[in-house]
Amino acid sequence: MKTIRDYDIKSKKVIIRCDFNVPMKEGKIVDDTRIQKALETILYAIHQGAKVILFSHLGRVKEESDLEKNNLLPVAKRLEELLGQKVFFSEKTRGKELEDMIETMQPGEVLLVQNTRYEDLEGKKESKNDEELGKYWASLGDIFINDAFGTAHRAHASNVGISTYLPSGIGFLIEKEINALKVLEEDIHPFVIILGGAKVTDKIGVIENLVTKADKILIGGGMAFTFLKAKGMNIGKSLLEEENLEFCKRMLETYPDKLVLPVDCAVTNEFVDTEEYRIQKIEDMTSDEMGLDIGKETIKLFQSELEKASIILWNGPLGVYEFEKYQLGTKEVLKYIVEKDKKVILGGGDIVAAATTLGYQDKVYHASTGGGATLEYLEGKPLPGIESIQ
Ligand code: 3PG
Repeated sequence: MKTIRDYDIKSKKVIIRCDFNVPMKEGKIVDDTRIQKALETILYAIHQGAKVILFSHLGRVKEESDLEKNNLLPVAKRLEELLGQKVFFSEKTRGKELEDMIETMQPGEVLLVQNTRYEDLEGKKESKNDEELGKYWASLGDIFINDAFGTAHRAHASNVGISTYLPSGIGFLIEKEINALKVLEEDIHPFVIILGGAKVTDKIGVIENLVTKADKILIGGGMAFTFLKAKGMNIGKSLLEEENLEFCKRMLETYPDKLVLPVDCAVTNEFVDTEEYRIQKIEDMTSDEMGLDIGKETIKLFQSELEKASIILWNGPLGVYEFEKYQLGTKEVLKYIVEKDKKVILGGGDIVAAATTLGYQDKVYHASTGGGATLEYLEGKPLPGIESIQ
């Protein structure tokens, strides 16, 4: 697959598709990891003397009121700080103003184009990969570099569309992400997967694709309770997905020694962060209790399984991570594997956020910038944003 290194980009208009879809609160960037991770490719293009045109989406734009909160201007400002140079910003995603800005660019200059999903307001042109839009955006540059790993599972005009009409390649971030995830295809054992998050539904594809390759799958988070129920346990008011009970039963029967479930959990009576919780053995749970995190015995159980692991893949937190009180299980297990110097790949949102909070982001083998994209990769699905470059 071609990369940015394969092109002579000096004085060329290089369109780089980044994933600057960063969490925002009241117009402020809450976590700039995705911007930081995009810097290597941008800096390389600057140093090569390219005219650097950046595209990204931010959030989802369905109606007029979504425009303001998904304006990319704060990203341009943050980029400016990180790059230490002026970042020009086009308020528009098309038109004369944008075209003039590009025409007057000098080698080494950087321009960020407004949120590509502003084009979704009329007829979802970006998200439906409108042919005319992809062609138009491609006409603004000479070379296209896709570095938006987080968006690789989408076939949109700003990735697949543009790549159809320009010589294309991937950037350093996508290259790193693919190489890191490819490690999972090597026959390294024991291979232990940690799965968490609220729903079994979100992880069925991953379980089905990886269950035969993994030696153990440790299950926590809300999704554990449907498995526990399928085992015949009383889970009180904990999260249950009736429609997945059969799937969980089938997995437990087919792989009885592979799936490891919680033996205790932090319980409370309401789904709030304020109430005091108790640690309860699963078999002692009462019908008015709900489990919101794994308990101390489960932390120990998971750690003993992880001690033997040669490679670990982790997707999803082990408790209700948005509630501070229920982050303990996730953090303790993460701390353990980092301190034991385990080769660990973290995929997606909350678990990468946990690593950042603990200062572990650079201590793990790989922390992916992809949420949905990583999941789809792990499900064995092709990623259109990358396939289109191939
Ligand atoms: C993500 O955050 O997963 C990517 O940026 C894709 O965003 P989307 O789910 O809104 O397409």
